[in-house]
Amino acid sequence: MAVVRDGVHVESNVIASQTDLHARYGGVVPEQASRAHLRAILPTLEEALSEAATDWSDVDAIAVTHGPGLAGALLVGVNVAKGLAFALKKPLLGVNHLEGHVYANWLETNPGDEEPTFPLVALIVSGGHSDLVLSDGHGRYRRLGRTRDDAAGEAFDKVARLLGLGFPGGPAIEREAAHGDPTAFKFPRARLEPDSWDFSFSGLKTAVRHQVQALGIDPEHATPDERRAKLPIADLSASFQAAVVDVLATKAAAAAQTFGATRLALGGGVAANRTLLHTVEERAQLPVLCPPPRLCTDNAAMIAAAGYFRFSAGERSDLRLDVEPGLPIA
Ligand code: KG4
Ligand code: ZN
Repeated sequence: MAVVRDGVHVESNVIASQTDLHARYGGVVPEQASRAHLRAILPTLEEALSEAATDWSDVDAIAVTHGPGLAGALLVGVNVAKGLAFALKKPLLGVNHLEGHVYANWLETNPGDEEPTFPLVALIVSGGHSDLVLSDGHGRYRRLGRTRDDAAGEAFDKVARLLGLGFPGGPAIEREAAHGDPTAFKFPRARLEPDSWDFSFSGLKTAVRHQVQALGIDPEHATPDERRAKLPIADLSASFQAAVVDVLATKAAAAAQTFGATRLALGGGVAANRTLLHTVEERAQLPVLCPPPRLCTDNAAMIAAAGYFRFSAGERSDLRLDVEPGLPIA
């Protein structure tokens, strides 16, 4: 839960992290996730209001994620938001989670930063999605490409598990990669057809798995300690990360060029990866936007920002707003 003023100023942004819970199970268990949501939501609301030193009378509208995502977790948020909107007679706005990741780029920009402008190409890379999107105005999207199999963040998480690193995998791999050689192993880059903006990461994941096996580790049964003791973790991490980053950065930069974008915006948990940002900046011929890492990973401020622009355009959701677990951005 977050309080955002004018779509850009973060007054509070409280994250009830489930990382410890998920780490215990090595990933997200849907039933656990929705129960944790339910436990956390009211205290989180209170905390966000008090941190922003405000109360409901000062709130103009309530934005909530209604998809995509896990149905159980979405239901908790949508029902609480509907209840509040009804009881407090406030406008309600259903926001697409992926759109939220794009709007994190409007938050907390510093003087001298490039402002977001349209048309922009956005690379949205998270645990569930890898979308390349063209936007020619607020709330207007055309999806150019998507992953055909694993999302980029999912690949990080699965490879981290193969290497005996913890959950979430992205930050763990980035840390290891910092002191590894990205050319130590030659992992494949799936370029797909020349006219496609889609991604594919399952072949890369399989290649890492075969490499791990060739290095004497049973990918099914080895303990995390055995993996970390036997494998060149830093070199494997750096080489894997280089392969993911190479494909993402090349395609995003090329799409921005091809579609005449004025900005290339990054978003989603994987955009917290500094090697990705620096590589995109090297390859793109236009200003690159990327939120600070804590606004790349899931947070409520980005949903409020997206909701603000929809609210300003006169849009309202009605109280029949429902969860849409498979909602695409376009
Ligand atoms: O957007 P997000 O917080 O949640 C979803 O909407 O899925 O993204 C989470 C994903 C995870 O797969 C996590 O491993 C990845 O983002 N991630 C990273 C980094 N930080 C988080 N991947 C690479 N490098 C990072 N520094
Ligand atoms: Zn996300």
